[in-house]
Amino acid sequence: MDLGLNGLRAVVTGGSSGIGLATVRVLLADGAKVAFCGRDEGRLAAALEPLRADYGDAVFAAPCDVLDAAAVEGFRDAVIERFGGVDILINNAGQGRLSTFETTDDAAWRDEFELKFFSVIRPTRAFQAALEASDKASIVIVNSLLARQPEPHMVCTSALRAGIQNLQKSLSVELAPKGIRVNGILLGIVDSGQWQRRYEAQAKPGETKDAWMADLAAQKHILTGRLGRPEEPAAAIAFLAAPVASFITGASLEVAGGVSRFA
Ligand SMILES: NC(=O)c1ccc[n+]([C@@H]2O[C@H](COP(=O)([O-])OP(=O)(O)OC[C@H]3O[C@@H](n4cnc5c(N)ncnc54)[C@H](OP(=O)(O)O)[C@@H]3O)[C@@H](O)[C@H]2O)c1
Repeated sequence: MDLGLNGLRAVVTGGSSGIGLATVRVLLADGAKVAFCGRDEGRLAAALEPLRADYGDAVFAAPCDVLDAAAVEGFRDAVIERFGGVDILINNAGQGRLSTFETTDDAAWRDEFELKFFSVIRPTRAFQAALEASDKASIVIVNSLLARQPEPHMVCTSALRAGIQNLQKSLSVELAPKGIRVNGILLGIVDSGQWQRRYEAQAKPGETKDAWMADLAAQKHILTGRLGRPEEPAAAIAFLAAPVASFITGASLEVAGGVSRFA
């Protein structure tokens, strides 16, 4: 199926690793031009180099912390200078916080609020005018199933994920008259940078990553019996972002291996 991405201009926040990087790859392979950001310059350069070899000037990366409004505006200006406009924004940057109610202090609540909300608000605000100028504009928000199904070891992240789910609906309503579709994906557990870090921190001595992940999949009752791979949510993100999904807005697609317990 042709998604209709050829020649469109996409921005992926947090594109230097995991799901973001897989999304950059899918969009490029489908003919889009892609700009991505992250904070760590070494990680950005390592991600960019092989893509440059394959896609040349169709791919661009710059350091940008999405929580820094001025940096986001600078990144936006650089993207527009390169590509002349933007059709697609993927709000992906971020990470989860492991904490119960008891172990989340006020500062942690505020930090998590800042990350979850402003990682969506700032890029959306910065790129809105450019998206309005496109006749194929869309935003995809990378969210988590925790929005609907909180976990006791991620109380703070779960509550804020629910808030993002609510914000996504409001954005879809407010931006529809401006020609911008807004959709999201709800992730289960996908093997990426953050799960690599958790494996390194939590695995028993000598436990392989495959064994650790298989145990995790069983504990979490993932119907597919395994964790997701970054290219799986990336395909869902590309579909929702693409013109082929032109009648879909305000929707959330679960990409979680059937782990949800609600109907
Ligand atoms: N993997 C899962 O199971 C899962 C589940 C639910 C939700 N998610 C969400 O999915 C998204 C992608 O995560 P992932 O699993 O692919 O993790 P990952 O491999 O750690 O990638 C996260 C990306 O976001 C970037 N990033 C983090 N904070 C940023 C900031 N303030 N400004 C700009 N870039 C930032 C990181 O680069 P730098 O660190 O260099 O900035 C990196 O490129 C995240 O929002 C995560 O919370 C993941």
